[in-house]
Amino acid sequence: MSQYRTPPVILRGQTLAFNGNPFKQDPSSTLRHECDGAVMLEGGRIIAAGRAGDVISANPGYDVTHYGDDALIMAGFVDTHMHYPQTDIVASYGEQLLEWLERYTFPEEQRYGDPDYARLMADVFLEQCLRNGTTSASVYATVHPESVDAFFQAASDRNMRMACGKVCMDRNAPAELIDTAQTAYDQSAALLKRWHGKGRNTYAITPRFAPTSTPEQLEALGALWQENPNALMQTHISENAEEIKWVTELFDDLPDYFGVYDAFGLTGPGAIFGHAIHLTDRERAAMAASGSAIAHCPTSNAFLGSGVFNMAVNRGTPISLASDVGGGPDFSMFATLRAAAQAARYHGHSLHPVQAFWLATIGGAEVLRMGDRVGNLAVGMEADLTVLDLKSTEQIARRIDRAENIEDTLFAQMILADDRAVRETWIGGVRQYQATLDR
Ligand code: GUN
Ligand code: ZN
Repeated sequence: MSQYRTPPVILRGQTLAFNGNPFKQDPSSTLRHECDGAVMLEGGRIIAAGRAGDVISANPGYDVTHYGDDALIMAGFVDTHMHYPQTDIVASYGEQLLEWLERYTFPEEQRYGDPDYARLMADVFLEQCLRNGTTSASVYATVHPESVDAFFQAASDRNMRMACGKVCMDRNAPAELIDTAQTAYDQSAALLKRWHGKGRNTYAITPRFAPTSTPEQLEALGALWQENPNALMQTHISENAEEIKWVTELFDDLPDYFGVYDAFGLTGPGAIFGHAIHLTDRERAAMAASGSAIAHCPTSNAFLGSGVFNMAVNRGTPISLASDVGGGPDFSMFATLRAAAQAARYHGHSLHPVQAFWLATIGGAEVLRMGDRVGNLAVGMEADLTVLDLKSTEQIARRIDRAENIEDTLFAQMILADDRAVRETWIGGVRQYQATLDR
């Protein structure tokens, strides 16, 4: 956090924070909302938060930026599953997962051995994150170590708290994207050593998914994780019917898809499984018992026609929200929340807006094991914030004018808002994004 010396500054507007888990107690009781609130930032951290009058009178003489009554200051969004090399292949037509990978994803990922292209796209990707209020994410690079270096360098230049890892694949992919069990281990180990815990960077050991790894590669990555248990482990599971069938054929000696990862030491606290739509009861119970977490990717699941994840039957496992760019077409956590709400409705439930915003911030931060640092507007937390315009379009303004309370306001945002609602994004106490007025 020492990269930027940040002078003290006070931000004033509505403020939103949590003081409990809305899945464990009455959601409304976990919300701390101030109609006229303020946060004070210094040295990259939040050093005061509360009612504007209290914060300002306790800290006289400091700069106050007043955003007005229609602004909401909250922690930045945390997206637990994204692919930065897929930024430019979003919205590719007509295929389900396996064909989509072959036709669009793998050709694009082959370009990331070029460090200049990787750096260019890492910058494009991170700017999109910022303009959407996303301050932390867990990100897949490509098989090329250069793509990981480029990403962490770009994240470090913005002082963003990010997780990333080299994608490992030693079968069932184009020759240009293939490594081996040994090179996957060696390159991942070297990258982990170079980046993990350096500045705000976290390394995520990243076997792409079981079909593109041999048992030898999964075993090598399981060993690497055991040697570095503070790193994250991210992969895909149970996303698509054809994929699941393929896994049972490739690993016919193992009980099921989760059983494959479990057999190679790739489950447990710090493991983030993307999608997890079609788990069996056995897999669900085993995943919950293991301490692993799920990245729920509802826009991607809809876009690729993969299925509809059911949060209600997966409550035993920590769940977080993710865009899965570029399987998911949208960087916006509002789009992700909207799709998560729709998925819940499909299964006969409703996603409470307080639970939704908790998942999109603290829930994600906890899954990335960053919950003690980011995800909430509380004293001592790192100052990664977003300032929302609660009336970012005429339609939203009309709807908010009749909102009954903050929960209703949050619900209307998650159903209606997009990147136009993000006025500013702050990273480590520094404003890194400001919307232009003519956007
Ligand atoms: N499964 C394996 N690789 C991928 C990927 O890049 N995107 C998605 N959505 N699923 C995957
Ligand atoms: Zn993915």
